[in-house]
Amino acid sequence: MSEREAGLNAAPRTTTQEPAGTRNLLAGLGTPVERTPVPGLQAEAAAFELDDVGVQYGDVTALKGVNLTIPRNRITAFIGPSGCGKSTLLRSLNRMNDLVDSARLLGEIRLEGEDIYAPGVDVVELRRRVGMVFQKPNPFPKTVYENVAYGLRIQGVRRASVLDEAVERSLTQAALWDEVKDRLDKPAVELSGGQQQRLVIARAIAIEPEVILLDEPCSALDPLSTAKVESLMYELKADFTLVIVTHNMQQASRVSDYTAFLYLGELVEMGPTDQIFLKPGEQATEDYITGRFG
Ligand SMILES: Nc1ncnc2c1ncn2[C@@H]1O[C@H](COP(=O)(O)OP(=O)(O)OP(=O)(O)O)[C@@H](O)[C@H]1O
Ligand SMILES: [Mg+2]
Repeated sequence: MSEREAGLNAAPRTTTQEPAGTRNLLAGLGTPVERTPVPGLQAEAAAFELDDVGVQYGDVTALKGVNLTIPRNRITAFIGPSGCGKSTLLRSLNRMNDLVDSARLLGEIRLEGEDIYAPGVDVVELRRRVGMVFQKPNPFPKTVYENVAYGLRIQGVRRASVLDEAVERSLTQAALWDEVKDRLDKPAVELSGGQQQRLVIARAIAIEPEVILLDEPCSALDPLSTAKVESLMYELKADFTLVIVTHNMQQASRVSDYTAFLYLGELVEMGPTDQIFLKPGEQATEDYITGRFG
């Protein structure tokens, strides 16, 4: 079962629970987080702009009042304790939440200035522009080659030379070509977990998206594979905007340019990663990144 199917079949979960002992962490935080000023961010070109974004699953509010900008050609990390809404926020960026019947979006999300929830938006095209990589590598039960060529075939590309070129380019860009060039016709499931995750990234890249969303892409990987995926992300930001959800604070501080800390469905703060880790503006952020809760 794919991650997507698993998500669709999942039983409705309960509402966000406050971890014990953290009840007062946000006391005094009452002022809404404004999109500006985030130091450094004003100078960046925006890929996504979120205005007062909320997500409800039935009567459960998973996310509320989120204002933020995701800069183009940068890596933005979403961090925060389990259940705080990181995946919900990520999935709202390519309308994956549409697949959940009870999900409802409030506010506005613009990609390159255009409201992605406006009537008439082509959701298939949106998801081509905004690709997604999940926690567990999910190669299709096809060959290495066909996994990468898949999206192009769906788009109607038939010419072998065009497909060959795109497969090689995408695998090279995903730092996997050298490892798989002699086994392109082998089943993708025979690759290691770390190779499968880079294959899935190659599959995402092949259709030339603008943004790649990665939901805990390394949590099922060993340290060496994690290092490979991290350095790959670093390379990819020249061509793509990346948004990553991670529970690994070292990873967020190593790879991301900007970090957004979410707590209980709200954005507590977002800033340049160095600043968030060295000198956060809010006590709750400091408590989380220093491991006092979460
Ligand atoms: N399909 C769904 N139906 C109902 N509630 C959901 C659904 N998906 C998420 N939720 C609820 O929305 C809230 C946020 O969940 P989300 O998965 O976004 O959290 P998260 O920060 O990604 O957590 P984790 O770190 O554990 O992955 C939680 O209260 C969760 O139970
Ligand atoms: Mg999640």
